[in-house]
Amino acid sequence: MILPTIDYRRGAVEIIDQTLLPAEMRIRRLRTLADLEEAIAAMRVRGAPAIGLAAAYGMLLALEERLRKRVKRAPRYFFDRASFVTPFADAGLSARELGETLASARTRIAATRPTAANLFWALDRVMRAARHGGRDPFEICCSVAAEAFWIHHEELEIELAIGRNGERLIRDGMNVLTHCNAGGLATAGYGTALGVLYAAWEKGKRFHVYADETRPLLQGARLTAWELSHRGMPHTLLCDGAAASLLAAGRIDAVVVGADRIAANGDTANKVGTLALAVLCAKFKTPLYVAAPASTFDPAIPSGRGIPIEERAESEVTTIRGRPHAPAGTRAYNPAFDVTPAGLIRAIVTERGVMKRPNRSQIRLFTKR
Ligand code: MRU
Repeated sequence: MILPTIDYRRGAVEIIDQTLLPAEMRIRRLRTLADLEEAIAAMRVRGAPAIGLAAAYGMLLALEERLRKRVKRAPRYFFDRASFVTPFADAGLSARELGETLASARTRIAATRPTAANLFWALDRVMRAARHGGRDPFEICCSVAAEAFWIHHEELEIELAIGRNGERLIRDGMNVLTHCNAGGLATAGYGTALGVLYAAWEKGKRFHVYADETRPLLQGARLTAWELSHRGMPHTLLCDGAAASLLAAGRIDAVVVGADRIAANGDTANKVGTLALAVLCAKFKTPLYVAAPASTFDPAIPSGRGIPIEERAESEVTTIRGRPHAPAGTRAYNPAFDVTPAGLIRAIVTERGVMKRPNRSQIRLFTKR
């Protein structure tokens, strides 16, 4: 089962609005760059690989918007994943104007969320592709569209490969704990950490999944439990703080999580609460596995200390669905991510294989390829 998390159809980016789940499954059409910025910042689309795809498609959307404004008798849309690019020879936009549009879109999209490496990686790929278009406006548009659609296609293949590589870590009868949502909703539609579990399940292995609810935005409760229910996989939801007692009792055989950015030495940023799980895994001798694509690695950042950690609104902690549940004036600390030192990670599962005990030299070799 591949979820339609994100797509580019008939001139708009289409996303599943994840803020409405599990109550409502609604596809939202984002027709402007401002819509897309809002959707990423408000986490209507979220999860590192999905944010990367949103960024790539956001660049295409910026071109779409500019062409729509410029072209008289514009077609209903210029770009579409099925029909690719509509001819618009008389668009009258110069290579310089297209370049300016893309550069400004890059700056705006880059400002939406700072932690996931995939977002910046996708923006850089699209900018490089635009340069390959040279001075011909039509070539530039084709090149940007081809790159965005290719990133999407490639991402799904990568997730399936992560699943194939990681499922070997899962055995029949295991109890596996996961944190946040690293499934189809966070990616091109299959998943990374959950992709490993889906691949194992599809191979016929039978095991139980424990899902942390993931305060404050409840990605575990709202999204992971939703995905697992749809797949008919047995699971139990728990408050984040309850994981300690499960691990201490020896009731968890492995913890599998995704990642938002992996530094050159293997230190890994993921949803806040992952570090606490990692320390518990070390204490109670339980393996912690991270599953992530190459696009989540950031070899330019030497260690976790350099990873920018997003701080979100205090109201996400003091209110639930807009209703206060702390006394007025209570301050809240709300980092969206934390950093797990590489030494606490048993292995990182990628599309190219399983990197045991990740360290700087392994990661250098991996990211060079
Ligand atoms: O703030 P979110 O919901 O975007 O955070 C998502 C996570 O931390 C995921 O675990 C991570 O992006 C990996 S998703 C495959």
